Amino acid sequence: MSLQSGVRRTLRQALVSTRQHLHHQTTPKQTAPKQTAPKQISPKQTSPTSSSPVRFFSSSPRTPLRDKEGTSGKEGQYARTDHTIQVSYPGPASTQLPPTDNLVKGIGHGGVPTLPTFSLQGKVGVVTGGARGLGLVMGQGMVVSGASLAIVDLNKEEATKQASLILETFKRDNPSSDQIPTITAHYADVSDPSSVQACIQEIISAHGKIDGLVTSAGFTENFEAVSYPFDRVRKLWGVNVDGTWLFATEVAKHLIERGAKGSMVFIGSMSGAIVNVPQPQAPYNAAKAAVRHMASSLAVEWAKYGVRVNVISPGYMLTALTQKILDDNPDLKEKWTSLIPQGKMGKPEDLMGPVTFLLSDASSYVTGADLRVDGGYTCT
Ligand SMILES: NC(=O)c1ccc[n+]([C@@H]2O[C@H](COP(=O)([O-])OP(=O)(O)OC[C@H]3O[C@@H](n4cnc5c(N)ncnc54)[C@H](O)[C@@H]3O)[C@@H](O)[C@H]2O)c1
Repeated sequence: MSLQSGVRRTLRQALVSTRQHLHHQTTPKQTAPKQTAPKQISPKQTSPTSSSPVRFFSSSPRTPLRDKEGTSGKEGQYARTDHTIQVSYPGPASTQLPPTDNLVKGIGHGGVPTLPTFSLQGKVGVVTGGARGLGLVMGQGMVVSGASLAIVDLNKEEATKQASLILETFKRDNPSSDQIPTITAHYADVSDPSSVQACIQEIISAHGKIDGLVTSAGFTENFEAVSYPFDRVRKLWGVNVDGTWLFATEVAKHLIERGAKGSMVFIGSMSGAIVNVPQPQAPYNAAKAAVRHMASSLAVEWAKYGVRVNVISPGYMLTALTQKILDDNPDLKEKWTSLIPQGKMGKPEDLMGPVTFLLSDASSYVTGADLRVDGGYTCT
């Protein structure tokens, strides 16, 4: 056997054994499937709230095609989605602002040699879905980099609370600064055109202008495709796809009218490029693929106005919510991290640099790009 084919064989064996490991309890047997109850994966002691319903998938076991067709019984045994698993996403956690000790040394670049083009000073940024999770932390990164910020969310109360916390943190970390950012909170349902228009007008009244947009409002949920309620598919596409479109086009109108350059960062997901396993989530994956191509298309259309549009595609990120789920379910954590070359999930703070880069003049010649922040997940 040549060295090359020996290496290939070893790799194939390793892959097969990894897949068997990933499906250690769920690999279909060659006999007819039993009616297995879906496994529920959810954090203990967390109750859903009206602002963030528990989201889960459930599915009934199906007869594998191979039995109907009388094939070998081995086909499909390495199928990588597992419809017996339920992942529950709980309600909002308490504040998720990360410590700024390592981030803030005075406004912008105080004391730290950095290219000035990375600064967002003098710019006004908008982040949708900014009351919590990734949007909240990216918003904080924008403020640390010198921007004023408008936080947009369905949950205005939480957005208002977090706006005050970001401002307090900024003042604490920059006691002698005479350039205090303006941080405001606004209600919008990003999937509703009139709500989006009203929100943009409110932001322009408060800040005078908008220079940058980050669309982080979005959600995921898991249902097997054949039992996914269609009203929920519409809702998911409404927030993830329509919401991105509506905010982007309204902000673009404002920039074009003003004759100003601007930068937009759509929060996609690695799910727009690969299919996550084991949880089934076809509409979410399709939505994030749409967001990615929407960014490329708008980047081309708006390049003549000086409006750049890029995507950040995060991999598995450890927000306060996912941390709790995984602490309670070490098996799922092991499954996910075993697929990430860096061997760990990302932190929300890992998005601060990418979002600042894409909003700033440091990325003036970058448009239509998809910046994957996934620990290498999509390379394999
Ligand atoms: N967390 C991850 O691992 C991960 C990975 C890849 C991509 N993403 C994407 O990042 C984005 C943020 O995810 P997250 O984990 O921070 O989620 P999250 O649920 O913690 O935060 C989402 C925020 O969006 C708001 N929101 C939801 N629907 C809205 C609507 N119709 N109008 C206005 N606001 C609305 C929610 O109130 C919430 O504050 C999403 O687009 C998600 O798909 C997340």
